[in-house]
Amino acid sequence: MESTDVQADLKHVLKSKDEIQNRIAELAAEIDRDYEGRDLLIVGVLKGAVMVMADLARALHSHVTMDWMAVSSYGSGTQSSGVVRILKDLDSDLMGKHVLIVEDIIDSGLTLSWLKTNLESRGTASVEICTAFRKPDAAKVAINVKYVGFDIPNEFVVGYGLDYAEKYRNLDFVGTLAPHVYE
Ligand code: XMP
Ligand code: MG
Repeated sequence: MESTDVQADLKHVLKSKDEIQNRIAELAAEIDRDYEGRDLLIVGVLKGAVMVMADLARALHSHVTMDWMAVSSYGSGTQSSGVVRILKDLDSDLMGKHVLIVEDIIDSGLTLSWLKTNLESRGTASVEICTAFRKPDAAKVAINVKYVGFDIPNEFVVGYGLDYAEKYRNLDFVGTLAPHVYE
């Protein structure tokens, strides 16, 4: 049997469940205020954004519609290259819509920068970005992110949708991995 002690795989907790939930509630309140009287389409980027989409959507008081996209960035290993391929496109027509892209994490910013431009080219009224986490020290492109949960150090993190080899997405907190997991 594989170990079920997930905690033992983690070096430390970066953001606890409570910290994340409180911050998501604050972001939702801001979003409610900013989009008052307008229809909003929130677009989750699979798979990482599943947790933040679910929590953010439930914390919002306004009417929103939800859609999903899956993209993969070509690149060597864990490095994003900025060349993006759409694996699953949106079901919705974006013409005239106010769109909020919801992401788990922004690292280099290359994926999001490409995605924002791509969605804007479909005749949207506006496109903004909400991310649970951002690594400012890893930024390779300047990208305007309107809603940021937490700025975090440039370390690999897992949990709350973020994975290492598809594991740890289901954690309700975010932490760094113990070296024994990946060495
Ligand atoms: P870029 O560099 O284009 O890439 O902003 C963003 C995507 O890279 C993944 N990513 C991570 N995944 N822990 C993860 O589990 C991390 O610390 C991490 N940093 C980047 C993620 O898929 C994100 O959408
Ligand atoms: Mg991702």
